[in-house]
Amino acid sequence: MKHLLSLLDTDSASAVGLMDTALDVKKNPGKYLEALKGKTLLMIFEKPSLRTRLSFEAGMTQMGGHAIFLDVKDAPIGEKESIEDTAKAAGRYCDIVMARLFKQEQLEKLAENSPVPVINGLTDMFHPCQILSDLLTIREKKGKLKGLKLCFLGDGNNNVTHSLLLGCAIAGISISVGCPKEHMPQQQVVKAALEKAKKSGSKIEVLNDARKAAKDADIVYADSWMSYHVPKDKKEERVRAFKPFQVNSAMMALAKKDAIFMNCLPAMRGYEQTAEVIDGKQSIVFDQAENRLHMQKAIILKLMGKV
Ligand code: CP
Ligand code: NVA
Repeated sequence: MKHLLSLLDTDSASAVGLMDTALDVKKNPGKYLEALKGKTLLMIFEKPSLRTRLSFEAGMTQMGGHAIFLDVKDAPIGEKESIEDTAKAAGRYCDIVMARLFKQEQLEKLAENSPVPVINGLTDMFHPCQILSDLLTIREKKGKLKGLKLCFLGDGNNNVTHSLLLGCAIAGISISVGCPKEHMPQQQVVKAALEKAKKSGSKIEVLNDARKAAKDADIVYADSWMSYHVPKDKKEERVRAFKPFQVNSAMMALAKKDAIFMNCLPAMRGYEQTAEVIDGKQSIVFDQAENRLHMQKAIILKLMGKV
């Protein structure tokens, strides 16, 4: 594993390896206090963030390293200088790079030209760190991954949905995406997930019926209807399209009795889920957010050859 750009090339053994390391990091943080002494992570952000920025920066501090936050307002990617030059210069100062960019192709170009490992901190297309962390959270809560059913409701053509399709297929979790016809996941991602599912035995389905998708799920997952890259003037039209896919108590009642509710956050109460769901007993969203820290420490350790 040289970079982490998506879950397209991730197999079950490496996902399990990362989860095991993340769990060790979580249980025994003292073991890793000096693991990255003198090492620097560069964090490039083209979009806003709370969790990704804080968890990567705190993770580096906790392992004896340091993180630099670069806002592209100060160094516009591909404008003042090419992305190739940015990658080559950054690699002379920093030991690893995490980037949150709009376009997946730009991230891939950054990685191709980088002498040091590159981590995807979210693009319009994928959010691999989120979903690897989520798999760890599900494993902790349910004691297993294989054989579970996850239902995602909302925007199908979405970074979190795409990475969930791949992550579930890798882990042997069956996934039902419930989304409007105009917001289906990208075909090439569904195809790649189906390919992975052949090995793991999980079932992949994309439905336009939210209730069918939610039926007997072990996990119900929601994400923002207004992702960072979506223009603000699309809000009204999107709220109308996604409303039938809102996770409310009636929707949760279709899932299993002991189902958990997940949202990668940021969340809007009254939109992708109601307050009673996200603030209710089945919600595990803050445990989910915490695991970003432990999983990303594991990812950095792995990419830097420390585990
Ligand atoms: N879930 C997540 O990536 O959150 P941020 O956008 O706050 O980083
Ligand atoms: N789909 C969301 C995820 C946020 C972590 C977005 O892209 O804004």
